[in-house]
Amino acid sequence: MKTVLSGIRSTGHLHLGNYFGALRNFTQLQHQAKCYFFIADLHSLTTHPKPDDFHSNVRIILSEYLASGLDPEKSTLFVQSSVPEVSELFVLLNMLTYKGELERTASFKDKVRQNPQNVNAGLLTYPVLMAADILIHRADWVPVGKDQEQHLEITRLLARRFNKVYDTNVFPEPEAYNFGGNLVKIPGLDGSGKMGKSEGNGIYLVDDQKTITKKVMRALTDSGPTAPGSPMSPEITNLFTLLSVVSEPQTVAYFKDQYNNCTIRYGDLKKQLAADICKQTLPIKERIEEIYHDNAYLKFVIEKGTAEARASAQTTMTLVREAVGFKAF
Ligand code: TRP
Repeated sequence: MKTVLSGIRSTGHLHLGNYFGALRNFTQLQHQAKCYFFIADLHSLTTHPKPDDFHSNVRIILSEYLASGLDPEKSTLFVQSSVPEVSELFVLLNMLTYKGELERTASFKDKVRQNPQNVNAGLLTYPVLMAADILIHRADWVPVGKDQEQHLEITRLLARRFNKVYDTNVFPEPEAYNFGGNLVKIPGLDGSGKMGKSEGNGIYLVDDQKTITKKVMRALTDSGPTAPGSPMSPEITNLFTLLSVVSEPQTVAYFKDQYNNCTIRYGDLKKQLAADICKQTLPIKERIEEIYHDNAYLKFVIEKGTAEARASAQTTMTLVREAVGFKAF
């Protein structure tokens, strides 16, 4: 059986992009593969969150993961910092990673541009910690978006390099997993390519009906089709992409027809889109709130997941320590 690993930083809430782009597929995948889902709280420390927010952010994501259908009986759910073996492997992998390799990473260069006053070493070595996350469970498949592909490439490089330097085959090279090509990229509401936390263009799983409707009604459009067959603007294409994810096929076809014969009213399209988003997400929102307040359940999930993750991590680290040459006196 293949091993799958996916992680998410503990900053902010999950949005439709996380849910329809990944989580919904994980609920299937967890029946077919050994899945590890974790919350990358160490990674989120690069921006120095306040201690009180730090824990509640983890609790939020865990509740949202569970409400979205990740099953703790099938999958291993855990928090990165509760598996200290990850930090040990991180140290060892750092010794094999060159400064230039990390400085060339696109995500690092972006961060330096965005936050020149906080270029800390954790930011530079972010991909090494991510490699440790993946390699510690010797994952075969890692579902990642385009923005993380370069990090996965570094993981593969470090796996090969470790195996070569220490003359071992402990690490398999993980592959990017794209759900058999069924991956939908969820666009933002501002005509840009991707829904994201930092872009401020997202609808969150915890948003209520009023918020969702307001956000959708404010989404950018254009001045409307002028002739049958005129090309669709990015803004309208995005609305149709969202519609195709949340609505019935006949609803999509209905508005496509209206677009094509130039009778479409974007206000009607948006009302339908908002209603169909609500239909999908409001039940999840309700479950998130229940789970978030059920401390006994969260504790059960995390204790089970941590034990499983640590067992897997310790198996790997025994092999790694042996390969590197650590020996008992
Ligand atoms: N870097 C990922 C993100 O920003 C989060 C992450 C950390 C991750 N470690 C990982 C993803 C390991 C997959 C595997 O989304």
